[in-house]
Amino acid sequence: MTTLLRVEGATRRFGGVHALRDVGLDVREGETHAVIGPNGAGKSTLFKLIGGQLAATSGTITYAGRRIDRLPPHRRARQGIAIAFQDAPVFRGMTVAENAMVGAHAVTSAGPLSAILRLPRHVKDEAFIRTTAAAALRRVALDDWADRPAEDLPLGLQRALQIARALCGRPRLLLLDEPASGLRGPERSALAELIEDLRGEGMSILLVEHDVAFVARLADRVTVLDLGRVIATGSYQSVRTDPAVITAYLGGHG
Ligand SMILES: Nc1ncnc2c1ncn2[C@@H]1O[C@H](COP(=O)(O)OP(=O)(O)O)[C@@H](O)[C@H]1O
Ligand SMILES: [Mg+2]
Repeated sequence: MTTLLRVEGATRRFGGVHALRDVGLDVREGETHAVIGPNGAGKSTLFKLIGGQLAATSGTITYAGRRIDRLPPHRRARQGIAIAFQDAPVFRGMTVAENAMVGAHAVTSAGPLSAILRLPRHVKDEAFIRTTAAAALRRVALDDWADRPAEDLPLGLQRALQIARALCGRPRLLLLDEPASGLRGPERSALAELIEDLRGEGMSILLVEHDVAFVARLADRVTVLDLGRVIATGSYQSVRTDPAVITAYLGGHG
C-alpha cells in the first residue's frame, strides 16, 4: 500500500507547552487511521498542522510525494486534504444548502472582486458551487433538508453536514476530529456507516475518536498520542494491549 500522507518529526510548542513532540505518522492510500489519546494529547494540534491552520515548530509533512508543510491551508485543500474540525460546527443562521456552499466556495479560484463584478468566471463558479454543494448533500443523504436552517438539524445530521462541507473539495484525505462526540447510538452507527462508505470509495481517512467500539469498527490502524508523543501505532488489537497505552489511559502520569 502506498503512503499518502507522512508526518515526520513534528513538534509544536505553545510557549512552554509542548503540544506535539517529534510526532511521526503515516496514512496509507485507502486506509482509515484513527488517532486516539487523552484530552490535551495533541490530536487537534496534529490535524491543524496537517491542514495548515497551524505551523509546526519543526518537522516535515509530505502528501502524495510532495512537501506541503509550507503551503497555506487553501492550497492543501485544493490538493485534496479536507478537515471537519472539532471546533467548527455548522454555521447558524444559514440553510443547510448554504452551509454546503461555503465548502464549495473554498475550492473555487475566483475572488470576491470577481463576484462583485459578476465576471464570467464568477458566473461559472456560482454554477459549480451550486452543483457541488447539492451533490455533497445528496452524498450524505441531507438533500431533503437543503432549505432548512442548519441549526434545526439533529446533532448527528449536523455532523453529516460538516462532512458534506468537507466533501465539496473532493478530498483524497479526509480528517475528522471527533465526529461522533455527543452522538447517541443510532446516530453513531449512521455516521460509522457513512465513513465506511467513503472508505469503500477509496478515500483515506484520519479520524480522532474516543469511543472504543467506533474505533474498533472503523480503523485499519491506530496511533496513540499521549502528552504530545506517539506512544503506540498498530492494529487496534495490538495497541489496546500495549502497556504504555494502558498506563496512559489509567492516568499513569497522574
Ligand atoms: N492555540 C493554542 N494556544 C495555546 N495552547 C494550545 C493551543 N492549542 C492547543 N494548545 C495546548 O496544546 C495541548 C494539546 O491540545 P489539543 O491538540 O487540542 O489536544 P487534544 O485535541 O488531543 O485534546 C494542550 O495542552 C492545549 O492546551
Ligand atoms: Mg481535540
